[in-house]
Amino acid sequence: MTLTYSKELMKHFKNPKHVKKLENPDAVGEVGNIRCGDIMHLELKVDKKTKKIEDIGFQTFGCPAALASSDVVCELAKGKTIEEAKKITKNDIIKKLKEMPPIKIHCSVLGIEALNKAIENYENKKKEEKIK
Ligand code: FES
Repeated sequence: MTLTYSKELMKHFKNPKHVKKLENPDAVGEVGNIRCGDIMHLELKVDKKTKKIEDIGFQTFGCPAALASSDVVCELAKGKTIEEAKKITKNDIIKKLKEMPPIKIHCSVLGIEALNKAIENYENKKKEEKIK
């Protein structure tokens, strides 16, 4: 079976801007795709005062759909506050990529799941800091 990806998806796949490892990230999120076993690892740098995501990067062994959709997740989340970033949905990502082959939907949610895990990790760290 041949998959057809949108031009927008191929643009992000061929030239992702957020495939990188951050130095001393404030939070990390990692998720696996239960259907294929691929892993998505995402990191955040958050401004202490504004709570805005000042940098974001990811690494994955996933397919083009996973890579492109995660690059879009990062593009959408960068510059947003943690609360604003929580509101990003998988539909926002698919809208940005124009379309997603139905068979690849499970790949396209990896980035958003990893972002949500990273936000959870960030909030847990903040709670722990308050307890100390
Ligand atoms: Fe594994 Fe798409 S096939 S992430």
